[in-house]
Amino acid sequence: PLAATGTLVGAAAARRGAVAAFNVITLEHVEAVVAGAEAVEAPVILQISENAVRYRYGRLLPLARAAAAVADSAGVDVALHLDHVQSDELLRQAADAGFSSVMYDAAKLPYDENLAATRAAADWGHANGLWVEAELGEVGGKDGAAPLDAHAPGARTDPGEARGFVTDAGVDALAVAVGSSHAMTTRTATLDHDLLKRLAEGLDVPLVLHGSSGVPDAELAEAVRGGIAKVNVGTALNIAMTGAIREFLAAHPDAVDSRKYLTVGREAMIRTVSDLIMVLRG
Ligand code: G3H
Ligand code: ZN
Repeated sequence: PLAATGTLVGAAAARRGAVAAFNVITLEHVEAVVAGAEAVEAPVILQISENAVRYRYGRLLPLARAAAAVADSAGVDVALHLDHVQSDELLRQAADAGFSSVMYDAAKLPYDENLAATRAAADWGHANGLWVEAELGEVGGKDGAAPLDAHAPGARTDPGEARGFVTDAGVDALAVAVGSSHAMTTRTATLDHDLLKRLAEGLDVPLVLHGSSGVPDAELAEAVRGGIAKVNVGTALNIAMTGAIREFLAAHPDAVDSRKYLTVGREAMIRTVSDLIMVLRG
């Protein structure tokens, strides 16, 4: 059934585990995430990013309604989250479209502007029943941009700054920059676990890891033990889907029915989802 992100993340944090949040682009992604979670009997978060909305001709509702319908009939708890929102117009569509949470992303702005924009988003979100995640210290690789130099200013979240940010912005969760980067196609990231520990000790909200596709299983498990309670995964699904479809079409050059290759793509994603959830469970 449809559940609330705050409830799922809170429950995961309470047992020092994490809930996986998968970015969905197509209905096949949605079905695969739910089937993968059902296979290991775990709750899961379906997230739709502003980029994915842009891909869907700027429309949120078609994919959101499909995701809500799949969630409704799921055998596990499934929450809907709107991811990397920069547009206030999109933010304002969230509550009515079935989302229980949003990630408001003003991380590329200077601290004061990030804080002001995030506080306004959190105030509006809370008045409208939403759980609000924000980001401080920029996780690189967004929008196909080159990953930030891991040691560049802003590529790490400062623990002292994070404390003030969470208190002043009033957010429910914080995405932290601890060494991961978006859209990595190899699992070669190493995380700064000491920094993560300091962040977790200083903050009383759950921490979120972005760009998790590039992080190896052992690093992910350690990050969860270190205080990460929501793990965002996007690229890993596309790697699984595209790889399976590429292989299928190479072996079946005469294939025409799209269901034939979408089926293998969806099955590959299901396996990726189940495997990752098992790593993060705690
Ligand atoms: O918010 C989405 C995630 O951070 C996904 O990152 O595509 O690198 O796994 P990823
Ligand atoms: Zn992200």
